[in-house]
Amino acid sequence: MSESGLIDPFGRRISYLRLSVTDRCDFRCTYCMSEDMVFAPRAQILSLEELYTVADAFIGLGVTRIRITGGEPLVRKNLASLLQRLGSRSELEDLAITTNGSQLHEQAQALRKAGVTRLNVSLDSLKPDRFAELTRRDRLAQVLAGIHAARAAGFVRIKLNSVIQKGRNDDEVVDLVAFAVSHGLDISFIEEMPLGRIDSHDRALTFCSSDEVRALVEARYALSPSDHLTGGPSRYWQVAGSGTRIGFISPHSHNFCGSCNRVRVTAEGKLVLCLGDEGALDLKALLRRHPGDSARLRAALVEALRLKPERHHFRSDEQVQVIRFMSATGG
Ligand code: 5AD
Ligand code: SF4
Repeated sequence: MSESGLIDPFGRRISYLRLSVTDRCDFRCTYCMSEDMVFAPRAQILSLEELYTVADAFIGLGVTRIRITGGEPLVRKNLASLLQRLGSRSELEDLAITTNGSQLHEQAQALRKAGVTRLNVSLDSLKPDRFAELTRRDRLAQVLAGIHAARAAGFVRIKLNSVIQKGRNDDEVVDLVAFAVSHGLDISFIEEMPLGRIDSHDRALTFCSSDEVRALVEARYALSPSDHLTGGPSRYWQVAGSGTRIGFISPHSHNFCGSCNRVRVTAEGKLVLCLGDEGALDLKALLRRHPGDSARLRAALVEALRLKPERHHFRSDEQVQVIRFMSATGG
């Protein structure tokens, strides 16, 4: 078996790892979890050392970009020590974090110093009341302060992630773009995905397609297709007369699987080969049987990649297909 890289049966080379460092979160976004969400016992979560071993194995197999996700990654204690180790790996072109922004006002500078290259900040509303409704936490001001702190710390091309839901925040699409333009940020609009069982709403009723969101944006802003490619699911557009790029992440309405370059590892150490899939391989079991054995892990990863499906099969009319919460898998 060759270990020269991670290539799946469809010829796709995996260069991008999304690594979830916790399933916990200080928010309770209604599309993500219920208020009384039960988190995994701490012993089931990979230690910082185990997380590093996992990342190291992927780097050894040619992964050049890692995104740290959660839950909310910045609630993980001592995350900075992991980030510093990863940040000093010269093989990595990109070390990014997806965050809800709640801790950025305190942590932005430390993240920058540790070698984090990029930040995505979730922001679904600019109205304090609505923000509190959507996240079940009244923290808009704190998140906005966090975004400013990140800019002050020197992060460039900070990207907002906005999940747009019909009747909930679709009336803020233009305001969110205006906010991005005036603060020199990029923004991606995300279609809600059927991840996890939630109790707050019927996803079929709130589903808002990327095409609908783009039409809302184009009623106010001229967009031109951008050649910016990430190998990921986002298609980008440039807002005329500004540096802002707008991405549309459309798991339902456009199929992006053909160029998929990524895999995920959950906070509990499950390798997830495709968002529409259950965890395929229990890396934690392997790590705890053979602590620090990166070579064994690499061989297992190469083997597991043979199971990567060709594409996912989400449909907006099905409430729950994947009984795994986004917070455990990490965006
Ligand atoms: N569908 C779409 N996006 C989701 N997120 C969390 N749960 C879902 C879901 N079910 C988003 C968050 C964050 C990003 C990491 O994923 O809002 O922006
Ligand atoms: Fe937390 Fe992100 Fe889930 Fe919201 S979407 S509850 S911020 S993990």
